[in-house]
Amino acid sequence: MRWILFFGALIGPSICCQEKFFGDQVFRINVRNEDEIHKLIQLVNSDNFTLNFWKPPSTFGCPVDIQVPSFSLQPVKSFLKSQGLEYSVTTEDLQSLLDDEDEETQHNEGRERSGDPFNYGAYHSLEAIYLEMDSMAADFPDFVSQVKIGHSFENRPLYVLKFSTGTGERRPAIWVNAGIHSREWISQATGIWMARKIVSDYRKDPAITSILEIMDIFLLPVANPDGYVYTQTKNRFWRKTRSRNPGSKCIGVDPNRNWNSSFAGEGASDNPCSEVYHGPHANSEVEVKSVVDFIQEHGNFKCFIDLHSYSQLLMYPYGYTVDKAPDAEELDKVAGRAAKALASLLGTKYRVGPSSTILYPVSGSSIDWAYDNGIKYAFTFELRDTGRYGFLLPANQIISTAEETWLSLKIIMEHVRHHLY
Ligand SMILES: *[C@@H]1O[C@H](CO)[C@@H](O)[C@H](O)[C@H]1NC(C)=O
Ligand SMILES: *[C@@H]1O[C@H](CO)[C@@H](O)[C@H](O)[C@H]1NC(C)=O
Ligand SMILES: [Zn+2]
Repeated sequence: MRWILFFGALIGPSICCQEKFFGDQVFRINVRNEDEIHKLIQLVNSDNFTLNFWKPPSTFGCPVDIQVPSFSLQPVKSFLKSQGLEYSVTTEDLQSLLDDEDEETQHNEGRERSGDPFNYGAYHSLEAIYLEMDSMAADFPDFVSQVKIGHSFENRPLYVLKFSTGTGERRPAIWVNAGIHSREWISQATGIWMARKIVSDYRKDPAITSILEIMDIFLLPVANPDGYVYTQTKNRFWRKTRSRNPGSKCIGVDPNRNWNSSFAGEGASDNPCSEVYHGPHANSEVEVKSVVDFIQEHGNFKCFIDLHSYSQLLMYPYGYTVDKAPDAEELDKVAGRAAKALASLLGTKYRVGPSSTILYPVSGSSIDWAYDNGIKYAFTFELRDTGRYGFLLPANQIISTAEETWLSLKIIMEHVRHHLY
């Protein structure tokens, strides 16, 4: 075991310089009323205890998850007690979860380097994901191709897999986005699993076969590659891009506040140090702009899916206003059927609704931009779990998460197919 870890440290993602979280814990606060939400929002804004909000205060009844650094444990407990806020400790020892995850990832990559096939039940480095994308495009040249839609701030390529059985350049198309928030590892893992699922089920599963008969699917498994590499080499909990902010020591923009839809409105911050910093202007992040340019250039996208974690939610526009989207009724119906299909596999429950109502206000989000730009079927998934592990969802849940999510995605895609014209 020691040897494998050592070997991994040499040529795999470096584990030497990762930030450690010894003694950090995750607290869950059960929010019982409006007053408690306000107290927690003050806590977010004060940043008195250098907390990392895994799940910020949202609507009443939704718990709040906070990563508390070891040096803040006592002051935070006193603060919560003084405010009458009820909490429980959901993760006693964050570093030991990270150690387990790291060891498993390194071990798996060692095996893959010595010839094992790509293990869909494991988390992977960016290189390994890109290699697997290469090999799918090479193995199925008749309907899979790899498209480079741009590059990241740190100049990593942004690769999309295109699944197309037709010859027309601009067939009606579906966009599937994963990993825009880098620490949400289940989303990249689910994305690459879906790519494999499409190639293995085409011509076998009538649903996906008939979707591909008239539509193309574009899948971007790692929408924020710089952030993803950073989560594997420096800080597991990095969420944003890695762009520099002139005049600030803080790095990165929240790429899901950077789209041109009610940019810089409610639910985004103008502080570069915030986890929800919207950036200097819409599309300032090259990762966002690359997708926007590609989709606009193409001009015939009908569906936009964005995969995130965690919370088990299936959401549709709007995030920037509580006003109903013109198609809210239809979107709600589709999402409801999709969530039902998802639950049919293992009973995993999802809540369904507009982001602004079931999560919290978000401006500048991807699905609002898609919807306001004519892509009616725009959905965000917050994948597993509901907080037991949060961003550190164990790898042994990847395949079941992907399988159940696939059932719901198929419902959405079939609906889109039936409502093309
Ligand atoms: C943060 O600290 C300041 C200064 O000690 C204090 O005035 C403020 O009330 C604190 N905010 C919260 C939310 O605890
Ligand atoms: C954002 O959209 C508005 C109107 O839809 C447009 O005028 C503006 O140029 C866009 N901004 C960017 C950065 O694309
Ligand atoms: Zn996210």
